[in-house]
Amino acid sequence: MTITTIFLSFLLLLSGPATSESKLNDKEQTILLKLKQHWQNPSLSHWQNPPSLSHLNSSHHCNWPEITCTNGSVTQLLLQNMNITQTVPPFICDLKNLTVIDLSYNFICQEFPKALYNCSKLEELDLSQNYFNGTIPVDIHRLSHLRRLNLGANNFYGNIPSSIGQLTELRTLQLFQCAFNGSFPREIGNLFKLESLQLAYNENMTAAKLPSSFTELKKLKFLWITASNLNGEVPDTIGEMEALVHLDLSINNLTGKIPSSLFMLKNLSIVYLYANQLSGEIPMVVEALNIDTIDLSVNKLTGSIPDDFGKLRNITGLSLFFNQLSGKIPDSIGRLPSLMVLKVFSNNLTGTLPPDFGLYSMLVEFQVADNKLEGKLPEHLCDNEGLVGVVAFNNNLTGELPKSLGNCNGLKIVTVFNNRLFGDIPSGLWTSLNLSILILSNNSFTGELPQRVAKNLSRLEINNNNFSGMIPAGVSSWRKLVVFEASNNLFTGTIPQELTSLPYLTTLFLDQNQLSGSLPQDIISWKTLNTLNLRQNKISGLIPPELGNLAGLTELDLSENQISGPIPPQLGLLRLTLLNLSSNLLNGRIPTQFENDAYANSFFNNSVLCARTVEHQTSQCSPPVKTIDGNAEHHSRVGELRCISQAAASAAPDEQRCTDQATRLAQIF
Ligand SMILES: *[C@@H]1O[C@H](CO)[C@@H](O)[C@H](O)[C@H]1NC(C)=O
Ligand SMILES: *[C@@H]1O[C@H](CO)[C@@H](O)[C@H](O)[C@H]1NC(C)=O
Ligand SMILES: *[C@@H]1O[C@H](CO)[C@@H](O)[C@H](O)[C@H]1NC(C)=O
Ligand SMILES: *[C@@H]1O[C@H](CO)[C@@H](O)[C@H](O)[C@H]1NC(C)=O
Ligand SMILES: *[C@@H]1O[C@H](CO)[C@@H](O)[C@H](O)[C@H]1NC(C)=O
Ligand SMILES: *[C@@H]1O[C@H](CO)[C@@H](O)[C@H](O)[C@H]1NC(C)=O
Ligand SMILES: *[C@@H]1O[C@H](CO)[C@@H](O)[C@H](O)[C@H]1NC(C)=O
Ligand SMILES: *[C@@H]1O[C@H](CO)[C@@H](O)[C@H](O)[C@H]1NC(C)=O
Ligand SMILES: *[C@@H]1O[C@H](CO)[C@@H](O)[C@H](O)[C@H]1NC(C)=O
Ligand SMILES: *[C@@H]1O[C@H](CO)[C@@H](O)[C@H](O)[C@H]1NC(C)=O
Ligand SMILES: *[C@@H]1O[C@H](CO)[C@@H](O)[C@H](O)[C@H]1NC(C)=O
Ligand SMILES: *[C@@H]1O[C@H](CO)[C@@H](O)[C@H](O)[C@H]1NC(C)=O
Repeated sequence: MTITTIFLSFLLLLSGPATSESKLNDKEQTILLKLKQHWQNPSLSHWQNPPSLSHLNSSHHCNWPEITCTNGSVTQLLLQNMNITQTVPPFICDLKNLTVIDLSYNFICQEFPKALYNCSKLEELDLSQNYFNGTIPVDIHRLSHLRRLNLGANNFYGNIPSSIGQLTELRTLQLFQCAFNGSFPREIGNLFKLESLQLAYNENMTAAKLPSSFTELKKLKFLWITASNLNGEVPDTIGEMEALVHLDLSINNLTGKIPSSLFMLKNLSIVYLYANQLSGEIPMVVEALNIDTIDLSVNKLTGSIPDDFGKLRNITGLSLFFNQLSGKIPDSIGRLPSLMVLKVFSNNLTGTLPPDFGLYSMLVEFQVADNKLEGKLPEHLCDNEGLVGVVAFNNNLTGELPKSLGNCNGLKIVTVFNNRLFGDIPSGLWTSLNLSILILSNNSFTGELPQRVAKNLSRLEINNNNFSGMIPAGVSSWRKLVVFEASNNLFTGTIPQELTSLPYLTTLFLDQNQLSGSLPQDIISWKTLNTLNLRQNKISGLIPPELGNLAGLTELDLSENQISGPIPPQLGLLRLTLLNLSSNLLNGRIPTQFENDAYANSFFNNSVLCARTVEHQTSQCSPPVKTIDGNAEHHSRVGELRCISQAAASAAPDEQRCTDQATRLAQIF
């Protein structure tokens, strides 16, 4: 074939007999090209006529990806996410056979385009995720064939017209995330074919009850009215919505009890009622055996967790946190075969934890903190190796950490502080591949710190335990550590130089141990350190002047040690909000920057420290300065100097303890 014959055959193809059908086609293409011109939209550059050789396929508008034709006529206009900024022109309905218009995810800013009423066959209209404003017109029911209407995520306001209840062909009605400020019309309950009703995030709705008419929607599977200012009780008749699969009424002001009929719905899979004011007991009888997720957290629920939850063999997530639930967690819940997420923290739960948690299902999150639970943590928590978090702080748990935690590479968080746990840490836990937060404070754990820890460990808090031995030299490999708190343990030996090489460390608590020797003189890379607390150890030697180079340091407590020598003047360069060097053997001059009330309690009980000018209520030294042990200090400008002697220390301790306590509490929470 020659080029010429190819060209000729194209011409033939394009100029076939002018049937009435192709005329209609031409007309529809003309409308589409007019639409493109109206929108001036580069995203539609492939809509073109006449065809070029490279676009031969796409010459026919029915082949344009945004267009669907049926029997050669345009029926669907799918223009999601096309950067359309212009209005919807009235001539769009010259495409007489349109059944679907999707203009979602564009930038259209206008009032509801009533011109669409002329699209007399329209079944689906999606204008969601634009900037449509104004009110929904009261004659919206003229779009009488609509099966799906999505106006969500726009700026529509005012009342949702009750005439919407006349769109009786609707299967899906989406009016979420707008600025509506009336109340939901009860007529929505007339939409008897409705399967999905999405009204969530209309935060400016007038506070009102969930219209009881909604529960007459017998085909409704999906009901989503999060954060839309609902109050009052959930109607009992909700139990008549036999098709209901997904119920989300979270973040409202619902009060009263959860209707017992709800948990009778055989198809129910998702129940989100979190963040309301629901009270009373959770219904005890549960026959909704297909439930996948229950979230009733952040309410005022009392009573116990229903035994029947132990029958929910498909449940993957159970969230009941921030309620006032009491009693024991039923053992049967520990045996649920699909359970992945358990969040029952911040309740009033008592008794022992079901021992079989983790044995029958792949647990991912185990959050039982802030209850009154006793006994041991379940031994098999990580048997199925899916565990990511164990959050069990603020209980009365005892025993050792489960061995399964020592072989649990998905683990990221373990927080078990404030319990009565004891024993050594399962050795594999320290190095667990993904561990990033380990908080064991306020227990009675024993053992020594390992040379190596998980490479992402950023927070290690082991305050108030019985850990012993040395701070290992291997600590230099704990590269990601940000917070290291190990107050009040039995650590001995010196503070290794290696500890000062951690590049991200901000907080270091090693107070109330038995550390001795001198402070590391050469601080390598503590650039980020802001809190250093070494109080109450047996540290001796001098304060390294390099401390003054730690620009981020705001809290420094070296009190109750045996540190001697002068205070390096470099420390005066720090912007400290807390400085405590009291009860040491320091002498010499207090850096002038500290000569103000803010540091009044910072220097008590040292050999002898002198200040040039003094605002504190301290005794004045008469020249030559006499110290407690009788040694004379030699000051160049005697007379301008006052000394803070032991005599002045009496006011300090109580006050100091209070601040420490406060700091400690702040660290825990
Ligand atoms: C819409 O505009 C953005 C930003 O200019 C661009 O990245 C994106 O590709 C455009 N989308 C289409 C479908 O043209
Ligand atoms: C034309 O369409 C066919 C089948 O859809 C495809 O294989 C071919 O690559 C297209 N040609 C052009 C030029 O787009
Ligand atoms: C398309 O044409 C076929 C056969 O002529 C017909 O049965 C069908 O109803 C038509 N579809 C529409 C949507 O008009
Ligand atoms: C609409 O569809 C019908 C049936 O398929 C067809 O007869 C008619 O020509 C189409 N109208 C237009 C404007 O294309
Ligand atoms: C519908 O189309 C007719 C005829 O083109 C026109 O007169 C009328 O104004 C249109 N209706 C709307 C609501 O745009
Ligand atoms: C809709 O938004 C446009 C553009 O911001 C504005 O001109 C118009 O007044 C608004 N209409 C209503 C009813 O708020
Ligand atoms: C709804 O908002 C509009 C515009 O802000 C206001 O004019 C109207 O009074 C409000 N209606 C109610 C019931 O608050
Ligand atoms: C709700 O109403 C307030 C006050 O009229 C307004 O500032 C706010 O933007 C509205 N919120 C939404 C989501 O429209
Ligand atoms: C619940 O109602 C109270 C007052 O009745 C109101 O202050 C509060 O904002 C409401 N909360 C929600 C989530 O609607
Ligand atoms: C649970 O899920 C399985 C499979 O996902 C399904 O076949 C079964 O019907 C569901 N319901 C119950 C009660 O097991
Ligand atoms: C917690 O339970 C105890 C009894 O077990 C009860 O005395 C107490 O009032 C409960 N506290 C709350 C906040 O419900
Ligand atoms: C913790 O358990 C012990 C032993 O059962 C008990 O004596 C103690 O009162 C409990 N503490 C709290 C805070 O419940």
